[in-house]
Amino acid sequence: MIRLGVNIDHVATVRQARQTVEPDPVQAAVLAELGGADGITVHLRGDRRHIQYRDVVLLSQTVAGTLNLEMALHEDDEVLETALDLRPQQVCLVPENREELTTEGGLNLDRNVDELRSAITQLQDNGTQVSLFIEPDTDTIRKAHDLGAQAVELHTGTWANAWLAAKQTGMQESINERDQQLERLRIASEVVNECGMLCHAGHGITYHNVSDLIGLIQACEYNIGHTIVARALLVGMQQAVHEMKTLLNQ
Ligand code: PXP
Repeated sequence: MIRLGVNIDHVATVRQARQTVEPDPVQAAVLAELGGADGITVHLRGDRRHIQYRDVVLLSQTVAGTLNLEMALHEDDEVLETALDLRPQQVCLVPENREELTTEGGLNLDRNVDELRSAITQLQDNGTQVSLFIEPDTDTIRKAHDLGAQAVELHTGTWANAWLAAKQTGMQESINERDQQLERLRIASEVVNECGMLCHAGHGITYHNVSDLIGLIQACEYNIGHTIVARALLVGMQQAVHEMKTLLNQ
């Protein structure tokens, strides 16, 4: 059974657009779990553009499945302290850049290695599983393994962009690029499993492209946000999650 982590950041994005109290991501999480989500993913960004500290506190008390906290390591360590305090079942370490629309690229595991190692150890000693969001390449996967991560989340965004370009243009060049990116993910997932880590995947996955990944890459968990929240606006959160869960496990 492939696990589905539903990223509800964009429920909070709508709330923050008016700096008000609705829609509440905590309520969305309840509905996502009723729809079949195995976990809830939220990214507590340094700039607090969507998820707030209050959300993570309440979610840590109410999510029945896995709470996966995405976070970057900051110099002030405020978010790391939150993770150590609230003890989510999983933390996914991601890079963060203030100008970006969404997470761009995977973690650079050559930089701040001591800081990364120390955060991983502290979180794991505190009972939290650590996943690293990385590019699907062998060298980076081996570095994640050396750092002691229990899981990696393979960045599927480059493939997802190539998938869309191939669909929109129909050009052979775009189709080749899409297929190369898929092959890159397939090989990466094999390496992750060979290393004995859990293989997760996320970013840019939609209702339309997800079936191209299933069966091809060996991932046990998908973290999916934008497409589910977008569909939830039309059909409701429970139904939107149910549809994605069905696609993942067909
Ligand atoms: N995984 C990670 C590490 C992310 O940063 C994001 C986006 O917040 C996702 C998965 C979900 O991506 P999307 O919203 O494109 O489904």
